[in-house]
Amino acid sequence: MKAAWLTAVLLGLTACGGGGMERMHPRSERTSEEKVEQPVRLVLPHNEPVLPPHSGREQFMASCETCHSARYITMQPRFSRKVWVAEVKKMAAAYGAPVPASNVDAIADYIVWWQSEPGQRMEGAE
Ligand code: HEC
Repeated sequence: MKAAWLTAVLLGLTACGGGGMERMHPRSERTSEEKVEQPVRLVLPHNEPVLPPHSGREQFMASCETCHSARYITMQPRFSRKVWVAEVKKMAAAYGAPVPASNVDAIADYIVWWQSEPGQRMEGAE
């Protein structure tokens, strides 16, 4: 008998607890002026380099754009052709970049050409 009484009290308390929360923030009392969290819209700068048409561009796009942005490549210091050839080979050997051996030179040449064209440098970059 005592157990049944205790259960009734506990059930009552639980019901009050739940109801209490509802009473503190009744939906019906919300006004249209009430601040509802709005998503914040941020426009972040996105400076992708312009990669103009030139021989080797197609091969470059096919092999170098899947894992990181083109910008990640063009933001590198101006390296020699030899270094770029090694870099392209490294991407293929170390990370599995899809670079057919016959395209290595074309890709390196494209990057070297791009880097040597002052007008093609990324906007804002020195
Ligand atoms: C399969 C994925 C993948 C592809 C495709 C790829 N890369 Fe990378 N690349 C990476 C990873 C991973 C890193 C970062 C290495 C690190 O943080 O040490 C990287 C880094 C670089 C860097 C920074 C210097 C360095 O050696 O870490 C350059 C430059 C670069 N890649 C050029 C290229 C070029 C050019 C191509 C096309 C031939 C290419 N990547 C294609 C995965 C890839």
